[in-house]
Amino acid sequence: MSSVALQRSYSAAPQAPVLFRADGLHKSFGGVRAVRDVSFSIVAGAVFAIIGPNGAGKSTLINLMSGIYQPDAGMLIFDDRPLVGLPAHRRVRLGLARTFQKIRLFKHLSVLDNVIAGLHVHHRIPAWEYVVHGPAFRRDHARSREEAFELLRFVGLDQRASIMASSLAYGEQRMLELARALATKPRLLMVDEPAAGLNAAEVEKLLDRIRLVRKRGITVVIVEHNMDLVMNVADRVLVMDYGQFLFEGAPAEVQANPAVIAAYLGA
Ligand SMILES: Nc1ncnc2c1ncn2[C@@H]1O[C@H](COP(=O)(O)OP(=O)(O)OP(=O)(O)O)[C@@H](O)[C@H]1O
Ligand SMILES: [Mg+2]
Repeated sequence: MSSVALQRSYSAAPQAPVLFRADGLHKSFGGVRAVRDVSFSIVAGAVFAIIGPNGAGKSTLINLMSGIYQPDAGMLIFDDRPLVGLPAHRRVRLGLARTFQKIRLFKHLSVLDNVIAGLHVHHRIPAWEYVVHGPAFRRDHARSREEAFELLRFVGLDQRASIMASSLAYGEQRMLELARALATKPRLLMVDEPAAGLNAAEVEKLLDRIRLVRKRGITVVIVEHNMDLVMNVADRVLVMDYGQFLFEGAPAEVQANPAVIAAYLGA
């Protein structure tokens, strides 16, 4: 499906419910006010981009959403549920997944096991079965491998399943991080500069995967410097500058907004 068609199907469903809401978020590090009074809503099924110059507070915003940091003030609501105070691992179980600007993988584990680790977030088998490898463990193990391979096929890494994650090329590591995040079965997937360091062909593939993820009904938040990518894939764009909300709108509105051009596009 072309991006134009995706755009159309998105605007054809304006009644889609809000899946995620931030209200009056603040976060400071010492004297640095990284996020200042930022509010926004993300509609279910959207690709929501966050852009802004270096140091604008984009990663801090993702860190607040995912629970890596707690805000100094403000509210975070996911599917009508308040998130503030909940640690990151609890939020993963609720359906929030993310990748990191600086790749974080289990480097000493195989590619396959990195994805299996993501799958295990939701698995509940009795602890003793892990020790003696009982029947529930074996069933769980076989199912996990199958699911993990499917995700590796999705990101094009199934042929690399048995090698160590650290042996992957940089672009492949980014795709593995994506597969691992998807393994947690998110309803909201946050990706922080997924295209950083990728070549043109890899960016194209990433774009395609993000569109497919969205087609599967997963809401996507993408922090990105690559403006072409953002304009191609996003339904809504939030622009930040110096920790503050600068503008939010459709990609075309963002490109035409004088304040945005001054702060970012013109820079
Ligand atoms: N853990 C931290 N400790 C201290 N300062 C921090 C921390 N995290 C972020 N900051 C500061 O907060 C501000 C916003 O940083 P943030 O990483 O959110 O920006 P960004 O928009 O993601 O930038 P970039 O485009 O370079 O990734 C910066 O001034 C940064 O130095
Ligand atoms: Mg960042």
